[in-house]
This record gives sequence, C-alpha cells and structure tokens, in this order.
Amino acid sequence: MALQNKIKILILDDEKQFTEELSGFFQGSDYESFEANTAAEGKKILAANDIDLLILDVRLPGVNGLDILKDVKIQYPSMEVIIISAHGDMDTVIKAMRLGAFDYLRKPFRYIDIQIAIERTQKYLQMQRRLKHMEERNSLISKNLEEKIDRQFIGISPEIREVFDQAITAANYPEANVLITGESGTGKENIARIIHYSSSRKDHIFCAVNSSAITESLLESEFFGHKKGSFTGAISDKMGFFEVCNQGTLFLDEIADMPLNLQAKILRATEEKVITRVGDTSQIRTDFRIISATNHDIHKGVEKNKFRLDLLHRLNTLHIHIPALRERPEDIKPLLVHFVSVYSTKFNKPNLTIANEVFDLLRRYDFPGNVRELRNMTERAIILCKGNQLGVHDFPVAPQRTALPVENADSVNLRNNELILIQKALQRANFNQQAAADFLGIHRDALSRKIKKYNIPISKSEE
Ligand SMILES: Nc1ncnc2c1ncn2[C@@H]1O[C@H](COP(=O)(O)OP(=O)(O)OP(=O)(O)O)[C@@H](O)[C@H]1O
Ligand SMILES: [Mg+2]
Repeated sequence: MALQNKIKILILDDEKQFTEELSGFFQGSDYESFEANTAAEGKKILAANDIDLLILDVRLPGVNGLDILKDVKIQYPSMEVIIISAHGDMDTVIKAMRLGAFDYLRKPFRYIDIQIAIERTQKYLQMQRRLKHMEERNSLISKNLEEKIDRQFIGISPEIREVFDQAITAANYPEANVLITGESGTGKENIARIIHYSSSRKDHIFCAVNSSAITESLLESEFFGHKKGSFTGAISDKMGFFEVCNQGTLFLDEIADMPLNLQAKILRATEEKVITRVGDTSQIRTDFRIISATNHDIHKGVEKNKFRLDLLHRLNTLHIHIPALRERPEDIKPLLVHFVSVYSTKFNKPNLTIANEVFDLLRRYDFPGNVRELRNMTERAIILCKGNQLGVHDFPVAPQRTALPVENADSVNLRNNELILIQKALQRANFNQQAAADFLGIHRDALSRKIKKYNIPISKSEE
C-alpha cells in the first residue's frame, strides 16, 4: 500500500460520465485516481497498480458487482472497497458489507459524501498500516532480544550451568511461577528474560515491574488498571500490569519490598487469574505467569510479618538461586572476555588483549556488586586504557581474598572445615601442592581446583 504517497483510488462504474466527473474531482488532491467502465478494465488496473481503495458500482452490466467484491477481497485483502448502490437497494448493501466492503454510498450522492467516506477509509487504512508495522517491529524486537540474550548469558561453572538448566525447565512449564534469588547484580533479571523468551509466552509481553519504584497510592491502579473517573487523575480507562501481561510474563523485581495490602490482592489475582479494575465491577480474565526476584532473605521477611507466607508459596513453585560471582570464580574469565569484546566494539578499540595478571587479580577480588560490577569496571577500564593491552593498573581493585575461617572445634560446617584442612596441609607441606595433596589424601588437580574455588593463598608471602 502506498500510504506515504498519494492514495490510489480506482473508480469502477459503467457510466463514463460519472467516472470522469469523479476523477476530475480528485484532481489536484491527495488522491490519484484511475477509471474503469468495465470489470475487465478494472481487473487490469488492479493488477498493474498498487490500488488502496476501490469505489465500486455493484450494478455493472453483465456481472454481479458482489462477485467482483468477493474476488477483490481475496486477491487484495489489504485494499478497501466503498460500494455505490442504487437508492432502495438495501439488500445489496447489507450483503456487500458482510463481504467486507468498508462503506457504501447511495446514488445520487454529493461530492462531500464521497470525500467524507474516503477520509474515513484513509484513517482506517493508516491505522491498519501502523498496526502492521508495530506487529512487525515487535516480532523483530523479540527476535533481536532473544539472540542478544542468548549470547549474553555467560558462565562455565557448574553452578551457573545448573541455573541455566533450571531456567530451561522453567521455560518448559509456562504456567509455573518462578522465584529467583541472588545477590544484587547476579543476573536475576537476565534469567527471568531467558525464561520468558524461551517459553511459549515469548510472543507476548515481558513486563518488568519494581513495585518499590511506584508510589504506594498508585500501586493498585498500576497492577489492576482503573476505570475512567474512579479517582482524580484517572482521565481514561487504563489497563494494569496483570491485563497487559495477558499470555505473557509479569516480572516482579524486589518483591520483598511489596506493601502488605498489595500482597493480599496479588495473591488473589494469582490464584484466580481474574482481576477487577479499580472503580469497576466487571471481572476480567487474564492469563499471566509471575517471575519474581529478590536479593533479600525473603524468609526473614515472613518471620517479621512483612511478607505473606501464602504468597511466597504461590510465587516459588520453582525456585532458582543464582550464586554470587565470588562463589564461582571460574566464570570471571569468560565474563571478562565477553565484556571486553562488547565494550571494545562499542568504543571502537579493536584488538585489545588482556594481561594474564588481570585474571589473577580479579579472581582474588570479592565482587560485592557481582557481574554488574565486573561489567562496569570493564567498561571503565576500556574507556581509560591507553595501549593495546588491559593491565592490572586498569582495574583498580584491592584483592580481598575470601576471609579464611578461624578454627572452631565445634564447627560442623563442611566448607569451613575443608578450607581449614587445606590451609593446614599447605602450611605443613611448606606450600608444596603435591605434598599438601598427599597429606589430604586427594589428587593434586582436586587440590588445585579447591584452592581456586576458595581463593586460598598458595605461598607464604601471600599470607
Ligand atoms: N551470566 C551473565 N552473563 C552475561 N551478563 C550477565 C550475566 N549475569 C549478569 N549479567 C549482566 O549483569 C548486569 C546485572 O544483571 P541483572 O540486572 O540481571 O542483575 P539482578 O540480579 O537483577 O540485579 P539487582 O538485584 O540489582 O536488580 C546486567 O547487565 C546483566 O546483563
Ligand atoms: Mg534486577
């Protein structure tokens, strides 16, 4: 359809005088008109031009105008048709409208009538076009995002592989609610998006909501929508998140901060999958999945009566915990390589290499801000880096080895005791790793893995 150019109109009527007059009327306007006085002529013009609108007389000699309408709607579904009928022929008009005619005009008509009919059709055509454009854009966006996400979820540690497997399981159960826990910056929203875009809900909305960022008085209307006039400021009917997410995913970030009165309402909506807009009485059915996230200990919230236990049970049908980056140091290297590649492209610094000492330095850093902190420090390092290699001076972090636990005879904590034993063995073996492994009765490679995992100092000078 040539909407950005002139609208193309074909006038198909057996009265030559009429087609000429009407065509003359369109001259110099925003419309480009074509004339045909027989069905055969009309078909030729339709085939050769990208016609937007057909003005069709349904009483053509020898052919049934309704048959032409039927054919045209099949062959050119995006073309609109205004029919011209004789006075008193309401039967034909009704049939034509059922066959998909957009409007009708009764002969004789005034030019202003046709002008109005065309403008109405034009608005409709433009709306259709915008809708189509939006649909195309939307599917492009989700495709783009999908590809991007796939590439962005980085990690080789068994812990992160497990998280990824759990995310895929969650994607395969699109009705199950999912709770994602983990420290700030561990990738909770990232995982939520992966679940959504790998699930059958992917063509519908993923809506991320942080309720602590919304004024409390507006929360209910944001979630449930409202009816026009239900409160000051409700100037029109509005859908809430639950309705917007119909068939999609509602991502509730930082659920621990959600006010108690809203928790009760969310519980009901989640159980019944039916909501009522503020100020309205009718019930609206909506099918959404909730993925929620928190970096707080939500069970503490339950103990302190700040979070409803019944809502927690509803939300954590599936639970995914993302370990802190310091608990999976083997992911630091691939993440760093990934972020260097992303930012060196962005800042046009190709061929940047990373000095080995950078990896050593970062493995010994605790990353309280997790992957987000690593991403931000890499971005900064690349902006400030002068040469072709990123060195330790580009990463101003103080190595903070994981605090080694103090021996406590009563402790049965496996991790702490393992750490203490490894430390003792290393000291007894004078930091000879083979000898220390022999003391511990494990293979040297196993010891080496544990040293890396716990960031244990491996020489006296480092103590
Ligand atoms: N495994 C990963 N691979 C690639 N990028 C990651 C990974 N994990 C996290 N990121 C990136 O780190 C940043 C922080 O992630 P995200 O926003 O998902 O964290 P979060 O857990 O939701 O944090 P918060 O609790 O602060 O909201 C994002 O830019 C995200 O893309
Ligand atoms: Mg987040």
